[in-house]
Amino acid sequence: MRILILNGPNLNLLGKREPDVYGSRSFEDYFAELKLLFPEIQLEYFQSNHEGALIDKLHEVGFSADGIVLNAGAYTHTSVALADAIGAITTPVVEVHISNVHKREAFRHHSYIAPKCAGSIVGLGLEGYRLAIEWFILKKNV
Ligand code: DQA
Repeated sequence: MRILILNGPNLNLLGKREPDVYGSRSFEDYFAELKLLFPEIQLEYFQSNHEGALIDKLHEVGFSADGIVLNAGAYTHTSVALADAIGAITTPVVEVHISNVHKREAFRHHSYIAPKCAGSIVGLGLEGYRLAIEWFILKKNV
């Protein structure tokens, strides 16, 4: 089973960026733990600050991977192009947000990508990524 974690803009700064909102752990550190937790899964990780690079990655893996866990960062709230890319691929996508976007500024309450995703996990910290992977595993075994 092959799952891609795709992180969007500014998420390369996890651990340093607004630790009160996003925590003090880097994603690389958390990803190493995920790999140990799911040794049977072919887990891949890609991060970009560029909208087009995220779209290219969705096109590249979106017809072959079993699942994509996507934190599109601020592009969540702005990008019709990312929503279209998710709609164009066959691999199911789960949207994850570390913070509870609904408790934050109004502009974070709307997600262009949510209607194209299988579901969304919001506000559960980094554990949202693990829960999304567990959902893909459950779904595969039903
Ligand atoms: C985020 C929430 C977005 O509103 C924000 O722009 C981010 C991170 C989250 O994981 O909580 O960059 O996606």
